[in-house]
Amino acid sequence: MKKLDIGLIGYGYIGKIHNIAYKTIPIIFPQYGDAYNLSSLISTKTQNLENTGFNTLVSSIYDLKNENLDIVDICTPNFLHLEQSSFFIRKNSNIYCEKPMAVNLKESLQILNLVKEKEIITQLALVYRFMPAISKAKAMIENNCIGEIINFRSQLFHSSYLDPNRAITWRLKKEMSGGGAISDLGIHLLDILVFLLGYENIDKLRAEANTIIKERPAENGEGMEKVDVDDWGLIILYLKNGAAGTIEVSKVSHNPYDTFEMEIYGTNGYIKISDKSPYEPIYSLYNLKDSKDTLEIIKTDNYVNYLNSIYPNPKMSMGPMVDMHIASILNMIINVSNNKVLNKETPTFEEGIKSQKLVELAYLSVKEKIKS
Ligand SMILES: NC(=O)c1ccc[n+]([C@@H]2O[C@H](COP(=O)([O-])OP(=O)(O)OC[C@H]3O[C@@H](n4cnc5c(N)ncnc54)[C@H](O)[C@@H]3O)[C@@H](O)[C@H]2O)c1
Repeated sequence: MKKLDIGLIGYGYIGKIHNIAYKTIPIIFPQYGDAYNLSSLISTKTQNLENTGFNTLVSSIYDLKNENLDIVDICTPNFLHLEQSSFFIRKNSNIYCEKPMAVNLKESLQILNLVKEKEIITQLALVYRFMPAISKAKAMIENNCIGEIINFRSQLFHSSYLDPNRAITWRLKKEMSGGGAISDLGIHLLDILVFLLGYENIDKLRAEANTIIKERPAENGEGMEKVDVDDWGLIILYLKNGAAGTIEVSKVSHNPYDTFEMEIYGTNGYIKISDKSPYEPIYSLYNLKDSKDTLEIIKTDNYVNYLNSIYPNPKMSMGPMVDMHIASILNMIINVSNNKVLNKETPTFEEGIKSQKLVELAYLSVKEKIKS
């Protein structure tokens, strides 16, 4: 089979994690070692990137106008996603793009419309869908193990911007990022809830946002710049059955023990998912006689078993962050190699735009309150 030519755009924090995944997949999953070539790295800064393992190193996507890449992996700041994905969609490349798809829903829909004109495979790096504990929770919820959903709560707390002396970056400039904690972190929690509870079951939401650190040193070191996005956010999401739950996100909260946590309560018990236990959800059933059935449901679930074959086992783990990216990227490679999306759980652009819509609604809700 022809090896897939992969191009990676952007070599900052997440670009490096993606490259770790490309380098590691042939070691952990040797059956896929022959599936792809690291063809082109596109990075505005090219200094010291000669040994990243890519055959070609260029500084602009337009240097590749005559190249045919099978997969283009976009790891650049959000404001570049529209231009870069559009360029390669028009060239019929399959697109793997970091979240969010673009700075807002309007631009994301523009991308989706272009995709619809082509027969290409797309995926967003909504990587929590690839955490084994979440796939098991999904199997349990779908099979009614915890009964009807009553309430839920979730959090994703980072401390990346807790230091007020940290200079402003593109992430804290609305024009370049599209939003702050809600769009950067909230999108992951919203996508997990869409995945676990079903988009069709979501009724409405309300949101609050705050900017704790209101100005920061400019990137060039000259003076201070205003932060015009949220660094903390809270969403209350209501389901059509009357249940409600919370999503709380922060870029300025130091809590190294419970960075990501989600609890879902139903009429027959609860499930907790956390990055401290990425392989297994913690759960307790109110009606204990259902426990044996639950184990069987988890053991025989197709998606759970598929993830077992693409997620590093505990002895090979590099931590859930890298492991989820490995499984997510491998899923993309498998889909492109088969020329179709094999698992409906894949966060294709069509699927991933659902959480982008909820982010947009959350910001609308915040804005309405500020006005009144
Ligand atoms: N899924 C996740 O877990 C996750 C985690 C972190 C970041 N992200 C997403 O990844 C994307 C990048 O975030 P990051 O943290 O790596 O940012 P970053 O600032 O660390 O890196 C961005 C890189 O892009 C490069 N770049 C800028 N303009 C470019 C251009 N025109 N062509 C090529 N390269 C260019 C910059 O030089 C920089 O190296 C964002 O969309 C972000 O939301 C996702």
